[in-house]
Amino acid sequence: MGDTGISGEVIGIDLGTTYSCVAVARKGRGVEIIANDQGNRTTPSYVAFSPASAGSERFIGEAAKNQATLNPRGTIFDAKRLIGKKVEVKGKPKIFTPEEISAMVLWKMKEAAEQYLGKQVINAVVTVPAYFNDSQRRATKDAGIIAGLNVLRIINEPTAGALAYGVNQGPDKKGTILVYDLGGGTFDVSVLEINDGIFEVLATGGDTHLGGGDFDQRVMKYFIDLIKKKYGKDVSQDPKALGKLRRECERAKRVLSTQTQTRVEIDSLIQGVDYFCEPLTRARFEALNLDLFERTLEIVKSTLKDAKVSKGRIDEIVLVGGSTRIPKVGEMLRKAFDGKEPCNGINPDEAVAYGAAILGANLAGDRPGGAILFDVTPLSLGIRVHGDLMSIVVPRNTPIPTKKSKGEYRTVKDQQTGLFIEVLQGERARGKDCLLLGSFRLTGIPAAPRYVRRIF
Ligand SMILES: Nc1ncnc2c1ncn2[C@@H]1O[C@H](COP(=O)(O)OP(=O)(O)OP(=O)(O)O)[C@@H](O)[C@H]1O
Ligand SMILES: [Mg+2]
Repeated sequence: MGDTGISGEVIGIDLGTTYSCVAVARKGRGVEIIANDQGNRTTPSYVAFSPASAGSERFIGEAAKNQATLNPRGTIFDAKRLIGKKVEVKGKPKIFTPEEISAMVLWKMKEAAEQYLGKQVINAVVTVPAYFNDSQRRATKDAGIIAGLNVLRIINEPTAGALAYGVNQGPDKKGTILVYDLGGGTFDVSVLEINDGIFEVLATGGDTHLGGGDFDQRVMKYFIDLIKKKYGKDVSQDPKALGKLRRECERAKRVLSTQTQTRVEIDSLIQGVDYFCEPLTRARFEALNLDLFERTLEIVKSTLKDAKVSKGRIDEIVLVGGSTRIPKVGEMLRKAFDGKEPCNGINPDEAVAYGAAILGANLAGDRPGGAILFDVTPLSLGIRVHGDLMSIVVPRNTPIPTKKSKGEYRTVKDQQTGLFIEVLQGERARGKDCLLLGSFRLTGIPAAPRYVRRIF
């Protein structure tokens, strides 16, 4: 394994909002996606606890998702949407943090890898949306620690997708690519340049709250309104009925990626509706979500602008994430890029884990793709000034690591010898709307009249 001090395989884990995936890259065997105990290559990011009366058993993955409609109150999903955020659970005791729930999913992925490799696995590369801020990244790392993993690196999901694409294309791959990653919960876009095994991110953008789950919600809302009108029943107040509706809406959405119409059929939906059956067309699905699809295109445009790359310079559009199977997505991209056909060479559900496994093998001293990565800061970094204004020091999309110096800060009081510096992350003008990363006191400034001392 070289002289990196890392022993054993380094697995790559895509910790998804809705599905997670684990892969490993070994010498001579290439990249393998590891199936779970049910034989599936992705595992639902679900955790469930059966009621105390049923023994308070814990389920993770397939088993948790399978019992979700029977036990809606004891089932947790979408933890990734809460990770790294302050959570308040009103009225109910807070039992688990999103980090702990994510840790259980990571543990399940680790277990699948151990089963497959026939030995203990400690080291991992875990992916996060490119647009995650620092506290969300740290929380993901914490989840890894709780799961008993040594997280060697946190890598951005679209960068991992690009790595999978680039390495798959061979060592001589060159060009500018755009990764469009639309998953279950988040949307990410990155523009990269690939040259002689060097992957350089030029810019990244996204929305940490836009994905397949939102499309499901729109369809659910449509049926909730329809059921209200037709039967006078409010499904939104019934967790069991909602769970059934969610499951069937997601299924219908998937069917509509290959067929132009389908039916949503549910047995004993709610008291008074024994059998629910309604058609859903692809056209209706698209109309319900059009503004969300369009928002992804706006983000693509602004990311190209940040990267200072015109759309004509994009050699390849790489599709990542299960939601890119929606025909409208491909159609929109083709139109926006003057007829260019997006590439879906690698399975969109697996590309991120695939890329993470490649990086893992690289870190272990094994270089199947020989790739070197350069990434950027997804959000601006700065300090709080003049009461509560965010003064940017390192603009978003700056290549990292970086060092920046700015000579415009000065002491504001006569004989001032120290000052308090608060480091912020975000794009908003007000400090309170940004994330506070940390603070420190700078002392030892030689006393002088105000405005004389400049702080670099
Ligand atoms: N054939 C399909 N048509 C439409 N949507 C699909 C299809 N297959 C999967 N999806 C959707 O893709 C999403 C899952 O994709 P993926 O596994 O890439 O997301 P994730 O990794 O869980 O989420 P994220 O990357 O946002 O954290 C789900 O919302 C699922 O409903
Ligand atoms: Mg994903």
